[in-house]
Amino acid sequence: MKTDFLVIGSGAAGLSFALKAAERGTVTIVTKGEMAECNTNYAQGGICSVTYEPDTFEKHIEDTLVCGAGKCDRQAVELVVRRAPELIQDLIAWGTRFNKTPDGRFELHREGGHTEHRILHFEDLTGAEIERALIASVRQHPNITVLEHHFAVDLLTQHHLGEFVTRHTRNLTCFGAYVLNEKTHEIETMLARFTIVATGGCGHIYSSTTNPVVATGDGVAMCHRAKAKTENMEFIQFHPTALYNPGEKPNFLITEAMRGFGAILRLQNGEEFMDKYHPMKSLAPRDITARAIYREMTRRGEDFVYLDVTHKDPETVRTHFPNIYEKCLSVGIDMTKDWIPVTPAAHYSCGGVRVDLHGQTSIKRLYALGETSCTGLHGANRLASNSLIEAVVYADEAARHAIERFDRVGFQEGIPDWDFEGTQHTEEMLMLIRSKREVQSIMSNYVGIVRSNLRLERAMRRLSILFEETEELYNHTKPVRELCELRNMIAVAYLVIKQGMEIKESVGCHYNIDYQK
Ligand code: FAD
Ligand code: SIN
Repeated sequence: MKTDFLVIGSGAAGLSFALKAAERGTVTIVTKGEMAECNTNYAQGGICSVTYEPDTFEKHIEDTLVCGAGKCDRQAVELVVRRAPELIQDLIAWGTRFNKTPDGRFELHREGGHTEHRILHFEDLTGAEIERALIASVRQHPNITVLEHHFAVDLLTQHHLGEFVTRHTRNLTCFGAYVLNEKTHEIETMLARFTIVATGGCGHIYSSTTNPVVATGDGVAMCHRAKAKTENMEFIQFHPTALYNPGEKPNFLITEAMRGFGAILRLQNGEEFMDKYHPMKSLAPRDITARAIYREMTRRGEDFVYLDVTHKDPETVRTHFPNIYEKCLSVGIDMTKDWIPVTPAAHYSCGGVRVDLHGQTSIKRLYALGETSCTGLHGANRLASNSLIEAVVYADEAARHAIERFDRVGFQEGIPDWDFEGTQHTEEMLMLIRSKREVQSIMSNYVGIVRSNLRLERAMRRLSILFEETEELYNHTKPVRELCELRNMIAVAYLVIKQGMEIKESVGCHYNIDYQK
């Protein structure tokens, strides 16, 4: 199969890229589940953009840099912040609605680390609204083909032409991808002028995560195997306030916008505690808040703290957070009267496949966008609600860059079809599930909110056993989605641990007790 642009992933990054690129050529979007099954669809708080005074670009830039703990790339920050208003207009043109006040101005939320109200939102379902509008626009576009239940297995490079490839191979180029059609169980060769990896995050390498089940780090793993550069993988952001509801997976998120609205974190005995950790108290940057909660829970041997919004007007609480209100009611919590039990959960990967200001990876004709990428915007800790805007700004940059080069790029001939001579061991499915849980428990036990050199070494040793067992299985088994995901989770967990071992300091989301400040 040939397509001008092969887009892997159907979240905000992939879909907004597709809509731009489709003005120049044919676009094929492959996505491993239903189209709307993605992190984007679960985003609650909203999307950042400087909209009204007294907010300014300079303040948004400064908040992003402060949150990123000195590890942001200033050029990426400037790009995203300054282009945000324009891209918000694109989202609106595609049909996205944002809440407005009675006088017709956008209603702006505030979250941790923000010094101003600057988050546009649609109720507490902003991501679902953006995804709905993007899907509707993509479905109408004659140049875009969507293939659901298509799982990208690996990227095609010179390696598949039989050449010896290293990370330093000059002119390393991507020619498309091998994609597993989950209906026919066949692996299809998809050739493209440009390939875009927009496969979202990797929350499922941990036992507790706010991410939907598709977030297994496939894009980062594929790019790493293809020898693209990855960076900042150690900076896994834990959201401080996931609903504590044992047995529920993934964890339901209680948006940080609720703390922006005035909700207060309390210990189980009712005491406030965030003043001990940061002058912004419950609205401190996310890494600091998650660590403070972790520390208090560990000290007390407790599994959760409370979020208290009962002092606010009940009607306003219900209208601002209707989805969360309903969810809490369904588990017996009336948040206008009861405190909400919350606990941190893995939420966002600040690092990923290293890209330049055009979303280009270190491999030619290969772009990485959205949560899969490491643009440098987030540094060591992402400022809340900066990721959706990053996804659409870089999608736009990448589309322009690829379109400019379109006429100079063709399709690669001579790529062989997937070659497989083993057997399909479906009876090993149970083992795959167990191995996935082992990865999650290694990462949660040793590579969580608080780390140490010993814990990282231990994690690496345990992971290497799983790596060997899984590679053995992979080499003798016809790939199925579960096996590919397990393999990807192991690869991504490896990168988190390895890059965590390389950094000799505690910074942002990577807190190592051997380098305490
Ligand atoms: P996604 O939206 O995750 O899309 C990835 C797509 O890739 C999916 O369609 C998936 O099925 C597909 N895919 C994955 N692997 C493969 C494969 N091998 N083959 C084919 N397809 C594949 N950010 C904000 O800015 N504001 C918020 O308020 C906010 N709230 C959040 C709340 C929650 C609960 C979560 C989980 C995240 C939140 N975030 C928020 C983060 C933000 O939602 C994500 O970072 C962003 O949506 C990522 O978009 P994306 O397009 O990169 O990836
Ligand atoms: C939230 O609504 O708290 C999540 C925002 C984000 O992750 O950016």
